[in-house]
Amino acid sequence: MSIIETRDLDYHYPDGTHALKDVNINIKKGERTAFIGSNGAGKSTLFLHFNGILRPSSGKVVIGGKPVISQKKELMEIRQKVGLVFQNPDDQLFSPTVEEDVAFGPMNMGLSMEEVEQRVDDSLKMVGMQDYRGKAPHHLSGGQKKRVAIAGILAMDPEIMVLDEPTTGLDPYGAAQILKILYQLNQEGMTILLTSHDVDMIPLFANRIYVMHHGAIAGVGSPEEIFTNLELIKESHLRQPQVADLLRRLQNDGVGVDVKLTVKEARKELLKVIKRVELR
Ligand SMILES: Nc1ncnc2c1ncn2[C@@H]1O[C@H](COP(=O)(O)OP(=O)(O)OP(=O)(O)O)[C@@H](O)[C@H]1O
Ligand SMILES: [Mg+2]
Repeated sequence: MSIIETRDLDYHYPDGTHALKDVNINIKKGERTAFIGSNGAGKSTLFLHFNGILRPSSGKVVIGGKPVISQKKELMEIRQKVGLVFQNPDDQLFSPTVEEDVAFGPMNMGLSMEEVEQRVDDSLKMVGMQDYRGKAPHHLSGGQKKRVAIAGILAMDPEIMVLDEPTTGLDPYGAAQILKILYQLNQEGMTILLTSHDVDMIPLFANRIYVMHHGAIAGVGSPEEIFTNLELIKESHLRQPQVADLLRRLQNDGVGVDVKLTVKEARKELLKVIKRVELR
């Protein structure tokens, strides 16, 4: 069953920018979907439609079979179902302390104080920010702010998590940790959508990719389908993962290898070649 769907979604900003053009997407429950595309492609604009922050100029957004409409009650329901982490944490963090910020969502859900405290504890631990509970969010570093913003959404335990560049600004260890958590939550049933410019990371996480360009969907498919489509990659101002680029160059040099997207897969592929050479 599709859990997020858009039908002929078009969006114009008030200044006239035509940011989304006839966008049709279909996300199934339990998928890990990445949206990629150059700066200004429309990724953030699209994500802001998933929990009703922006309303389509025309077309529809359907979540769990129900169209997103502007009634207050429905919007509340949608926002509990779809947790959105903003690209810029400053758009999300507004409480005097980190723990109050993370508690805000669960409190609004009407949970008991005990449950709220438990969730704040757990989610701050997950993102490695448990020692900053009393600190003012605006005194945190960029990456720390991002972690707290993610914790705030984790604490709501939404059915769908929509993260606009969750790993941008995070150190490599922190980024890997966040992806591990998201992967784990997905294994437990959460549907996850994210945007990222990190084409080396995306094949490690996503099982489906949408490519956006100039406000439109330029391509959709598995990571293999997208990242071996060189024309699409060039036209959308992207690049192949470095591992794939290396294998493709070796292929051009006459080495009989298949293009793979991750180090793990590439290693297997290269070991096959080495065995072939040794057997000669
Ligand atoms: N509030 C706004 N008012 C007018 N135009 C806007 C506004 N926000 C974004 N835009 C424009 O809409 C287009 C899509 O922007 P959007 O932020 O969705 O891109 P993006 O794919 O998220 O890019 P990035 O990779 O830089 O985050 C751009 O041309 C941008 O300049
Ligand atoms: Mg963006």
